[in-house]
Amino acid sequence: MSDSATPTLQVRELAVSYGAARVIGNVNIDVAAGEIVGMVGPNGAGKTTTLRAISALVARQRGQVMLEGVVLGERPEIMARAGIAHVPEGRGLIPSLTVHQNLRLAAIGAGRKLSQEDVAYATAVFPLIERLMDRRAGFLSGGEQQMVAISRGLVARPKILMIDELSLGLAPRIVKDMSRVLRRVANERQIGIFLVDQNVRGLSHVCDRIYVLQDGLSSVANKDDTDLMRAVYFGRATAA
Ligand SMILES: Nc1ncnc2c1ncn2[C@@H]1O[C@H](COP(=O)(O)OP(=O)(O)OP(=O)(O)O)[C@@H](O)[C@H]1O
Ligand SMILES: [Mg+2]
Repeated sequence: MSDSATPTLQVRELAVSYGAARVIGNVNIDVAAGEIVGMVGPNGAGKTTTLRAISALVARQRGQVMLEGVVLGERPEIMARAGIAHVPEGRGLIPSLTVHQNLRLAAIGAGRKLSQEDVAYATAVFPLIERLMDRRAGFLSGGEQQMVAISRGLVARPKILMIDELSLGLAPRIVKDMSRVLRRVANERQIGIFLVDQNVRGLSHVCDRIYVLQDGLSSVANKDDTDLMRAVYFGRATAA
């Protein structure tokens, strides 16, 4: 069993290679319950790969992923059941299904049945999606799709919610709204949230802590050091 001092998610010495090319060499991340943690890094640094390795969607060459102190194996189908929800790059909705059907599948993927309470919570945090329930996901706007994608994460009742590129293609005002929602669900449900994003400034507003991923290594950044962040974003800095 874990105690309250154990971070909900612990990633230790994670390494992933694609063939002979090593993408990440040593990534270490902690995310506690109720905490919002970010990771930035230049394009191609391995941010998406890190999330996919945590979810066991790509093989780990080395390293461990622990949830509440328990080491997780490498079967992607058990990750959602264990309590890791992953909103992927591109949002991962099934375009031909309705919003409600997409939510139902997410609950099933987590070994649950979609309840009225799940739907009520999703529509409480995203009031807009209430009237979209019977619409096909593929016809929604980018912002609406992102709300549904995050709702899919919520109805899985995760301990950890990971979101790849929350802000991609969204207007700044919508990103702000999303950030408020994430803070609310982190507080209310004590979910640990792990965000990977290109939007360094946006991340530093919403996150409690930020990691930098560079040259395959993760390091803790001072989240207020926007000069460092910008430099890392453009690939010109050595992370402190
Ligand atoms: N399935 C794959 N096979 C081979 N190489 C891959 C594969 N997926 C990603 N890569 C490579 O691994 C590196 C890291 O990719 P990744 O998508 O993790 O970066 P990222 O930090 O998410 O980038 P971005 O900011 O552009 O989203 C890139 O060089 C990419 O080309
Ligand atoms: Mg990516």
